[in-house]
Parts: sequence; structure tokens; C-alpha cells
Amino acid sequence: MTDKVSDRLVAALPGLDPAARVNRTAFEDRPAEWVDVLDESALQEQTPTRVEAGGVPVLLWRKEKGETWAIAATCPHLGGPLQAGTIAGDTVTCPWHGSVFCLRDGALIHGPATTSAPAYDVRVQNGRISVRARD
Ligand code: FES
Repeated sequence: MTDKVSDRLVAALPGLDPAARVNRTAFEDRPAEWVDVLDESALQEQTPTRVEAGGVPVLLWRKEKGETWAIAATCPHLGGPLQAGTIAGDTVTCPWHGSVFCLRDGALIHGPATTSAPAYDVRVQNGRISVRARD
């Protein structure tokens, strides 16, 4: 969906460079209510895992014997796949241009991205993982 919105923006704004820095997560329709995304047994510790929450890609991360965090799987810079990024401590580095985000809350550590990755609340109930957009 994000790419389609970006394509429409480029088409609607003559002269806009298609590579312009549109926040690639700005138009995601993130779920405000809990959405079931995965069986808990399918989430391995310290393995970035991409799931879909109402059609929106989300990166799940479980620390070793720790809690589970969730942020957008789409890099806000130019849409890189954060689940394919490099993990170091509590951060993920985008594989495309090297922006770094905190896995705990999506905070931008450094660019080229100029905005943080949206974060999600995570709930585990009856062996199922659910997420919802964090305010
Ligand atoms: S797409 Fe992630 S840093 Fe550019």
C-alpha cells in the first residue's frame, strides 16, 4: 500500500523526484486495535521476523529470554526491509542505506532517514502474539 500511495504522490506532484524522501510509513493504515499476527512458538529469539498486521508489515523482535518488541518492517526512508537489517544490541540497521532504529520503540538513532519507525504494542495471550499501533 505504501508504494502505491508514494506512486500517487509522485504522479500528482509534477516535478517531484520519485526518490524524494517521502516517509514510507506515513500512509500505512496501522491497526489501532489488537491484531493477531503469529503463534508464539513460531517466533525465535533474536531472529527478526516479518508479519502482517491488517496488511501492514511489522517487524517482531524477541530478545533472548526477554520481551517482544514490534516496529514497522518498512524503513521510513525509502522503504527498505528492516527485517533483513543487521541487529546490534537493541537496534536494527536498514540494509539499504544504513539508517539505524531502536527496536524497542522505533526511535531514529541516525539517518539518512529523518523520522522514526512507527512502534507497536505487543501482547501475548494463549500462545498467540498480537500487535496494535502505539500512540
Ligand atoms: S531505505 Fe532504509 S535507510 Fe534508506
